Amino acid sequence: MATGRIVIAFDLYGTLLSTESIAVELAKLFGDDNAKPIAALWRRYQLEYTWRINSMGIYRSFSQITRGALQHAVAESGCTLSSDGSDKLMKAYDALRVFCEIPAALDLVRESSQAVEAYVFSNGTDDMVSASIATSPDLKPYAELFLGLVTVDSGDVRVFKPHRKTYEHLVRAVGKEGQAGHVWVITANPFDVIGAKAAGLQSAWIDRAGKGWVDRLGDVIGGIRPTLVASGVDEAVKAIIQGQGSS
Ligand code: LAC
Repeated sequence: MATGRIVIAFDLYGTLLSTESIAVELAKLFGDDNAKPIAALWRRYQLEYTWRINSMGIYRSFSQITRGALQHAVAESGCTLSSDGSDKLMKAYDALRVFCEIPAALDLVRESSQAVEAYVFSNGTDDMVSASIATSPDLKPYAELFLGLVTVDSGDVRVFKPHRKTYEHLVRAVGKEGQAGHVWVITANPFDVIGAKAAGLQSAWIDRAGKGWVDRLGDVIGGIRPTLVASGVDEAVKAIIQGQGSS
């Protein structure tokens, strides 16, 4: 596998796919006013549950976590959800929309396929991630671009990001064992940035809000910052290919 190409692993939820785009489906069940707040809470509890369960030394799939987080978000918002409604929303989660710059970013990967090996790297289960790639109307045209869908739900991993094991698994899965510094993770999730860098990988942080890097856990640990910061995934791919920001 030592091809000399640049390995880029794209985080899925929140980086390629907008978890806020589920608000369209939530609006059908809970009305326009509730949709966005529930989408935000859903995402918040989804991540919080992954960190809590990691700390507890227990593993349940991201699909189970996502369903539980949905129920928590809906209940906290004072709404009710039938099990049928829950099934519908979980199904809709497989067809999230991409952020607007993603087609341009993936076109760039396609044009640069001599130089880049692309992977998806996610907390999601194999079923969720492959369903998203096959069902999301915007990702489907790019499905063949990804050499692999690397998830934490496999083999001896079964912990969530930012556990070190998840990044070690990625490095192995892309054939770069002993060369973590040659693997890039592009992610909009600050905890993923710091997790990747703490495990020796490179990471590009997507700053969609344009507020700059304010997460300070990396400073607490000892000078860990994103290898590069970009306003969109397209800009990050371009910078990585041009060799900017590599260390
Ligand atoms: C993922 C998360 C971080 O796709 O949402 O791994």
